[in-house]
Amino acid sequence: MLNTKISLEQACSIIKKGGVAAIPTETVYGLAGDIYSSTAIKQIFQIKKRPFFDPLIVHFAFKKQLKELCQYDTPIVEKLSDYFHPGPLTLVLRKKPSVSSLITAGSNTIAVRMPGHPLALELIKRTGSCLAAPSANLFSKASPTRAEHILQSLKIPVLDGGVCQVGIESTILKIHPSQKTLSILRPGVIGPSDIESFLKNQKLNWKVQYQNSSAPGQFQNHYQPDVPFIIIQSSRENPAPAAVEEKIKQYYPDRKPIEINLKNNAAIFARELYHNLRQLPEKSIGYVINNTSRRPNEDWIPIWDRLKKASTAEVYI
Ligand code: TXA
Ligand code: MG
Repeated sequence: MLNTKISLEQACSIIKKGGVAAIPTETVYGLAGDIYSSTAIKQIFQIKKRPFFDPLIVHFAFKKQLKELCQYDTPIVEKLSDYFHPGPLTLVLRKKPSVSSLITAGSNTIAVRMPGHPLALELIKRTGSCLAAPSANLFSKASPTRAEHILQSLKIPVLDGGVCQVGIESTILKIHPSQKTLSILRPGVIGPSDIESFLKNQKLNWKVQYQNSSAPGQFQNHYQPDVPFIIIQSSRENPAPAAVEEKIKQYYPDRKPIEINLKNNAAIFARELYHNLRQLPEKSIGYVINNTSRRPNEDWIPIWDRLKKASTAEVYI
């Protein structure tokens, strides 16, 4: 059943037998397998062509599974999970010895989250286990946000859950109990101010800090579309389209420039981002314009993080 859409029952039966299937989450589609099946885990790395040093996120559906996966003795862990789960927040904690170190790439920490998509939650519950699931794309390529994106690129069965509502990957938050610090390893739609509101609301005296690029899989070239994609850095508010295209033509004379327009609303732009990158036609070059009026407020930080990693170059005009 490769390269086809499957039902929830079929996905469940495949995963229970140690196979893998693409599943929807609210962020991006994941390539899921049972954490207790070493064949499934190895298959995930093989299908994605992902190096074994890049660890996987484990998805759970019941709060009690946190204890099965991680070791912690601070109340903040369950409080964070009660507040943000199900949702696009991944927590990095010390792992239980029973979790295979293949999943965590030899690290004694594990990344876990409860996804906010009803089909994903139902599937995890029915398997009675937890599912390791990286984004369902080839290593370093753009994450899929629709079933069609996977069917076009990988030979795996897909559980279709529609368009992912968030559109970019979860925020990764590492918990350092001894320093009472929370480090954001990968920005996402849950930003530092959401975490600060949580801390205030719960009267917890912890710090939040950015530590982007320190997750093992945070490479400079990531989320890449199949055609070149560049960022135009402009000091002008609205650079003339003809001038922008002329500049691009100097570097890429044989390609048709196509602008990916930034929207006013970050949430809508994030939802469409990977789809727009994937839609760029074969002989084109995609670009976004960054200028002083588009300085990121918190909502745009994860989007610029992905755009920078997806881009092949920056051009100044
Ligand atoms: O929204 C998401 O997080 C999606 C959906 C499917 O849940 N998953 C996802 O997985 O983006 P992936 O594998 O594409 O990205 C996971 C990131 C990688 O950069 C990996 O290095 C990091 O999480 N990660 C996994 N385990 C970690 C750990 N123990 N410590 C630090 N980073 C970890
Ligand atoms: Mg990924």
